[in-house]
Amino acid sequence: MKVTVFGIGYVGLVQAAVLAEVGHDVVCIDVDQAKVDNLKKGNIPIYEPGLTPLVTSNFEAGRLSFTTDAKAGVEHGDLIFIAVGTPPDEDGSADLKYVLTVAQTVAEYMQSHKIIINKSTVPVGTADKVKARVTETLNSASKSVTFDVVSNPEFLKEGAAVSDCMRPDRIILGVESDTAEDKLRELYSPFNRNHDKVITMDIRSAELTKYAANCMLATKISFMNEIANLAELFGADIEHVRHGIGSDPRIGYQFIYPGCGYGGSCFPKDVQALVRSANKVGYTARVLESVEAVNYQQKEKLFEYIMRHFNNDVKGKTVALWGLSFKPNTDDMREASSRVLMEKLWDAGATVQAYDPEAMEETQRIYGDRDDLRLMGTKESALNQADFLVICTEWQVFRAPDFELIKSKLSNPLIFDGRNLFEPKRMADYGLQYYAIGRGL
Ligand code: UGA
Repeated sequence: MKVTVFGIGYVGLVQAAVLAEVGHDVVCIDVDQAKVDNLKKGNIPIYEPGLTPLVTSNFEAGRLSFTTDAKAGVEHGDLIFIAVGTPPDEDGSADLKYVLTVAQTVAEYMQSHKIIINKSTVPVGTADKVKARVTETLNSASKSVTFDVVSNPEFLKEGAAVSDCMRPDRIILGVESDTAEDKLRELYSPFNRNHDKVITMDIRSAELTKYAANCMLATKISFMNEIANLAELFGADIEHVRHGIGSDPRIGYQFIYPGCGYGGSCFPKDVQALVRSANKVGYTARVLESVEAVNYQQKEKLFEYIMRHFNNDVKGKTVALWGLSFKPNTDDMREASSRVLMEKLWDAGATVQAYDPEAMEETQRIYGDRDDLRLMGTKESALNQADFLVICTEWQVFRAPDFELIKSKLSNPLIFDGRNLFEPKRMADYGLQYYAIGRGL
């Protein structure tokens, strides 16, 4: 089938490459000429396991192309995805200007029936706005061309985006017409084998499903972080509690890992956006407000432990930091807990000596050159002349380090672990003082 994807960001690029892989003819449009040129040369703008070979092989096979030519893109696709960004505006609401600009562009160039599919995470009611913008634009050009709007939210996770997209748990379709549903079912049929994963519903419900899913997951995390904080105060161990409650299938083991807070481009933005959308319809989303507040507080947790340990004085200390990305298998630093920690340490006069398997360039891009940030080539060198170690991201390479080496390199044999990677007893056996989340003060 002929498909066009507007917006070559995370969601757009992965979706386009996966659709091309199963044989669809996909054209990607972006306003960023440099990004388009780079993609044509095989330079992928994001780190995502499996994505580079997928993009390059489909590009070479001629099933996937990149251009800034919106007119050609609109002419090409019978199915047109909108996968542009919806960044938070000043009050945290999702900013729809890019989505609506694409809607207008599609309307300006379309000469035949198009199915316009919203892939971006957008507030409930956005499909109606897209519809209105397309209709207005068609009317003002006196064009009588028909179209459908579909809401088809994406559920991929960074770091596992390709496999999530190839093997989705569900395919949510918010549709109003049988023709549109039929076309989307055909498009996704290669990913819809074994059992029917397509769940159809009205458009507004599909839009809300996306937010509800992310907000539910964020809620699980903040809830666990709250219980971890209580465990600490009660003298309990959150890891036992996690095990104990996860065994109930109604609760489950997934997404109940306590830590130094959730980050990324989705949870923080989506929780905030739903809170703002709720306010706009006169509702105070108290649970979600608390989810956000707890997460904010949790990102400061490691700094609190550090300050308590050092009697509020870390001036002149060198801190070894392992893990900068908001989670493993990505170089994404958006809303990463490491940033809150580093910025607080700098304000307190400490120097950070950091290592991350993928996010070093991104850290350099964000913070530039500064005297109190040293980006180190290995996790071992980050320990050189450091006073203590902090862990912010649970990369696999941090899970079984050489504890003797850590102990010998640090001036204080001390680890602050924001991801609960180790057993407190084992740390004690190694002679390392160990702070983790919710495991005793
Ligand atoms: C999230 C959702 O998991 C995807 O289903 C969704 O499609 C995506 O947002 C999106 O809307 O695009 P992602 O942001 O890539 O995916 O990352 P997650 O793997 O969900 O992790 C989010 C954060 O939660 C990370 O900082 C992670 O460290 C933290 N987390 C996760 C915890 O603190 N505890 C847990 O138990 C799980």
